[in-house]
Amino acid sequence: MFILAAAGSAIGLGNIWKFPYMAGKYGGGAFVLMYLACIGVIGLPILVAEILIGRDARKNPVGAFSVISRGNRFWTAVGFLGVASGFVILSYYSVVGGWTVDYFTKSAAGSYLEANPGRINEIFNQMLANPWEQAVWHTVFMAATMGIVIFGVKEGLERWIEVLMPLLLVLLGVLVVYGLVAGDAAGGLGYLFIPDWSKLVTNAAGEYTPRPMLEAMGHAFFTLSLGMGAMITYGSYLGDHESIPASAVMVALLDTAIALLASIAIFTIVFQYGLDPTAAGPGLVFQVLPLAFSQMPGGRFIGTAFFLLLSFAALTSAISLLEVVVAHFIDDRKWARRTATVIMGTVIWVLGLFSAFSYNLLENVTLLEDKEGQGMPILDSVDLIATNYMLPIGGFFIALFAGWFIKQQVRDRQLLDGSGSRAFYRAWLFVTRYFTPVAVGLLILFMIDKHLGIAEWVFGGK
Ligand code: PHE
Repeated sequence: MFILAAAGSAIGLGNIWKFPYMAGKYGGGAFVLMYLACIGVIGLPILVAEILIGRDARKNPVGAFSVISRGNRFWTAVGFLGVASGFVILSYYSVVGGWTVDYFTKSAAGSYLEANPGRINEIFNQMLANPWEQAVWHTVFMAATMGIVIFGVKEGLERWIEVLMPLLLVLLGVLVVYGLVAGDAAGGLGYLFIPDWSKLVTNAAGEYTPRPMLEAMGHAFFTLSLGMGAMITYGSYLGDHESIPASAVMVALLDTAIALLASIAIFTIVFQYGLDPTAAGPGLVFQVLPLAFSQMPGGRFIGTAFFLLLSFAALTSAISLLEVVVAHFIDDRKWARRTATVIMGTVIWVLGLFSAFSYNLLENVTLLEDKEGQGMPILDSVDLIATNYMLPIGGFFIALFAGWFIKQQVRDRQLLDGSGSRAFYRAWLFVTRYFTPVAVGLLILFMIDKHLGIAEWVFGGK
């Protein structure tokens, strides 16, 4: 059951909405390879660490840190950081989840069928520009998330995941085949898999920036639901005799496969229409796949099924975000599940309205500037704060906790009992102790340095 719940959390908007547009924006092949490396040496070790902590403590993240560290304030605070990340991420995740539900209804109604690329862009931009449409679908998505969390995550949900997740995989397979046959296979695959390494350290204007590398690392956390304790929560569901490394590898492989399949489906179409792969941003999946649905036989049905399954994948991730927040209030503060869900869900919903209005009523409000000095909309800024600061900081401490702090016997028992392989264990321990904290520490320093400009001074030769 763990695999299903964990895959349900990992696979979501991160794979199908966010990864493809990041791969496009940050230059294709080199970014994709950097991302794969980050999954292997940062994501996978931290995934193992979180499951281990969760299974040992059998508690929510705040409780788990507090129990294993015997109430140490510092480590308990790391658990709280996770709860805060859940709040922040779910607020805008629900807005984008709302877009997918909106597109489900648009597909069923045939709104974008047989439209040209210009019109399809317009449909997306009109959706963003309409504050009511944004608020309504955000509310629908958040209400669905709260509804399921009230009834408890374990019951029922897994049966759905068991059916719908394979369907999503099959449907993506169909879209990939369609893209390869009817779209521009050479253009799409070439962009995604032939690296131009210079793109990893430069922006569109050719100036030095560490941003693409940092984004690849940050996304490894986001896509595997790491750094905030979602996998600690689900690790507590893993049976005593199941292997942690095998489960973690399985989840990471599935998650990566979905992201790559979605990207192939999208970029073969991008090149077929001669669109600019770097330009689309958060609208990519909503602007490109409808082009394919307009052309292919049965496109209306396939498009409707696709956005329905995507909404569902987003929902199972949103549930894991809310569960981290709610579980803390239930276990550690003895609130009733219903009370905790309604109160916390409502607070998150209100916070999310700021993201929902970030492309319309509040379009002139920008929180952060990106490297080019351009202001970023609220939703994009909040996403950056969560993905590139909050999750990596949480992940950094989780790696230190699992690698150094917890008792050797606990690590041995969790990773070696049963089918545990010694070689994997040794490699994991080494990477988690030394490599992962250093790499993630550098990521955080570089992010902070963006405002100081030291690296730019060193690498940019200015
Ligand atoms: N992993 C989810 C996705 O890729 C998002 C998520 C992040 C869920 C953090 C839970 C915790 O869509």
